[in-house]
Amino acid sequence: AKKIVLTEDTSLPAAVRIKLNNKSAELLGTRVKIFGRIHQIRAQKHATFLQVKDGYGLLQAVLPAGNLTKTYDALTFAQETALVLYGELKTVPEGHDAPDGRELQVDYYKVLGAAPSDLEAITNVVSRDQNPWDAQNLDNRHLVLRGENASAVMKLREAVELAFVDTYREMSFTKVSPPAMVQTQVEGGSTLFKYDYYGEEAYLTQSSQLYLETVIPSLGNVYCIEKSFRAEKSLTRRHLSEYSHVEAELDFIEFDDLLDHLEEMISQVVDKILANKEAAAYVKLLNPGFVKPSLPFLRMKYADAIDWLNAQDPPILNEEGAPHAFGDDIAEAAERRMTDLINRPIFLTHFPVEIKAFYMKKDESDCRVTESVDVLMPGVGEIVGGSMRMEDYDELIEAYKKNDIGHEPYYWYTDQRKYGTSPHGGYGLGLERFLAWLANQHTVRTCTLYSRFMGRCKP
Ligand code: 4AD
Repeated sequence: AKKIVLTEDTSLPAAVRIKLNNKSAELLGTRVKIFGRIHQIRAQKHATFLQVKDGYGLLQAVLPAGNLTKTYDALTFAQETALVLYGELKTVPEGHDAPDGRELQVDYYKVLGAAPSDLEAITNVVSRDQNPWDAQNLDNRHLVLRGENASAVMKLREAVELAFVDTYREMSFTKVSPPAMVQTQVEGGSTLFKYDYYGEEAYLTQSSQLYLETVIPSLGNVYCIEKSFRAEKSLTRRHLSEYSHVEAELDFIEFDDLLDHLEEMISQVVDKILANKEAAAYVKLLNPGFVKPSLPFLRMKYADAIDWLNAQDPPILNEEGAPHAFGDDIAEAAERRMTDLINRPIFLTHFPVEIKAFYMKKDESDCRVTESVDVLMPGVGEIVGGSMRMEDYDELIEAYKKNDIGHEPYYWYTDQRKYGTSPHGGYGLGLERFLAWLANQHTVRTCTLYSRFMGRCKP
């Protein structure tokens, strides 16, 4: 057979290069050029239909049967083949369906990077979104990310991050960037990643909180969106070893102010996402049933939660299989059951001193408990942990001792209590957990580009 070589018809109008998020109606009837990759192929008698993606959108490209469909390239088109397509952009004919209601009537194309067809075997599993958190799919994450759902989660993640940034800007919070390499713990020694820092012991940060506290005197309310690291030794749906932590610190506030702020902040972020057409479309694709939770969020004290767990029929038991008692940690399973049964966001407050971090302020009306809050979301459980901070110097020194923390490395933190201490508080929100809630993901492992957890440090 004669080898078919395509050439561009130079008598046609010059093609305008576009990205697929350009949905301008003026493009209809225009000759355009699109760089992208094949997402799907459907070969029919009269034409070959390619669904092409370019990282900005999807487009149906129609290659009428003839020379265009008979080249070696066309016969070996495969998922992920990279190419440039030229043709006229048209409205899809009545009764037909295509992304954005338009299609490209191709008159010329050039393959830029061929792909073997074996990929289809891999991404077929993935494109049907069968357990994208499975080990095999995580090994193939670099290819899974080419799928529609995985990439939608990543696009939505960016929109979420920007919504946080916008919200904090509107609230006049200053963004800072604390160090990831530290010599102090925040949330307990058992989850510290230790490493050798020029011969000294150092850790990957668990939280930027202590550093945020050092700058409220000069910068006012502050926040950061940085990585936090936890050497979690259990494999759960919501624990990562490396995660994105949205943390904020507010000066001259009381506990109720902190709760009001959290409610306002979450509410505004959700509003911004839903008002953003593109982001809202991703929410719709990933979590069609999503509705913004109604305000105010339920506020429940830890002690009342313990009673609530025990009052269920049958009672929701603790990890030892016994009824919950005051002082018990409410473990992940019980917390989830409760959140799913109540089925609305919960501000769980006033946790006992013993089960919370050393820096938390005690409730003056009941010194067994702290002014602390966890925000629980249906489907995920805890997405935020926050508290008011201990204000008194001597009390802090005492707290280090009680928690077996040598105070020397914390001199800079302790100094905050010496030089003009203040009533202040803050919180940390796990970005992946927030996204798991918003995008209805089974696990945080699909809410980050390349997840890290015990046993996985690749790709
Ligand atoms: O409750 P945590 O441990 O609180 C702190 O780190 C505070 N120092 C934050 C602060 O007040 N500035 O963590 C806060 C949030 C959790 O609610 C959860 O959403 C997320 O961080 N988080 C994790 N996300 C994924 N994987 C893990 N291993 C996480 N550990 C905590």
